[in-house]
Amino acid sequence: MYTQALNTAETTRGTPEDAERLARFQARVDAEERIEPNDWMPEAYRRTLVRQISQHAHSEIVGMLPEGNWITRAPSLRRKAALLAKVQDEGGHGLYLYAAAETLGTSREELVDQLLSGRAKYSSIFNYPTLTWADIGAIGWLVDGAAIMNQIPLCRCSYGPYARAMIRVCKEESFHQRQGYEIMLTLCRGTPEQKAMAQDALNRWWWPCLMMFGPPDTESQHSDQSTRWKIKRFSNDELRQRFIDATVPQAHYLGLTPPDPALHQDAATGHWRHGPIDWQEFRDVLAGHGPCNRERLEARRAAHADGAWVRAAAAAHAEKRRARDAALAA
Ligand code: 3HC
Repeated sequence: MYTQALNTAETTRGTPEDAERLARFQARVDAEERIEPNDWMPEAYRRTLVRQISQHAHSEIVGMLPEGNWITRAPSLRRKAALLAKVQDEGGHGLYLYAAAETLGTSREELVDQLLSGRAKYSSIFNYPTLTWADIGAIGWLVDGAAIMNQIPLCRCSYGPYARAMIRVCKEESFHQRQGYEIMLTLCRGTPEQKAMAQDALNRWWWPCLMMFGPPDTESQHSDQSTRWKIKRFSNDELRQRFIDATVPQAHYLGLTPPDPALHQDAATGHWRHGPIDWQEFRDVLAGHGPCNRERLEARRAAHADGAWVRAAAAAHAEKRRARDAALAA
């Protein structure tokens, strides 16, 4: 774990040297240089990275729950194996991201405590239930599809450890999205009941997926600064629009209809224009009043408690190894 060099703005006192150091930092970002853990960085840059990376990591871990709900009920061994691999991947994505947050001086234990106490955010999308097998297809196709749209630009994030974690994550996300879309294709080419199940899943996941990209640009508190620091490369609305433009033709290929009567294609630009998003629903879910918020936290708290013996055993083993190595070195 990197030692967090005390080289952030909090050690600055508004002197001309501080202004010069800030200017040097911004010039590095503007020149597309990667900022690494032991480089000087403004405290606000470090803080917003911890904020975003920790929420991203929590999202990956909590995101394992809705899909894990169907591992024992997958319709075939092949589907079970693919879903098992995907859920396992998501756990690994969470670990990459917790490790990236540790390079900013924030321990994994601290972040996990924040999640378990309900003080931390994770993506709103994971507070919706998975009611049928088609939801697993819709999550892979739509949720991972939205995640890819959001995570590809993060591969060019100015903070090195985050960008490198994203490169690894995005390689696995494309498998996640592909297996989800194949589930939807199989259902849509199946019986009328199976196709109806796929349409029902699209109806329930479409709008919450659009909310994944964050509030409208007019309400985004962090976008401007995150864009100046090249943490964000595109705005919430830009990525949302890219996702809609890519996904509507896929829905049509499946023979499905996005649940938006106002959806239409702009003849001049080719963009698919959507109807109004229910931002009150978004705010309610963020405030903890989504369909599954309580259930998700209870599941994480129970898993953490059940895993206490594993953490204790690993710590005891590590301590034993340290003592043995110290004795050998003496
Ligand atoms: N769910 C929960 N909170 C959200 C949110 C969402 N969908 N969208 C925005 N928010 C929160 C922000 O965190 C911020 O709150 P905060 O100040 O307490 O952190 C507030 O709403 C205002 O939003 P902003 O647009 O100002 O915030 P950001 O600039 O951070 O943009 C974001 C929001 C686009 C989600 C950005 O944080 C981001 O890109 N995060 C990393 C990617 C990510 O988390 N992706 C989704 C989950 S990962 C996933 O889907 C896994 C896949 O494998 C299935």
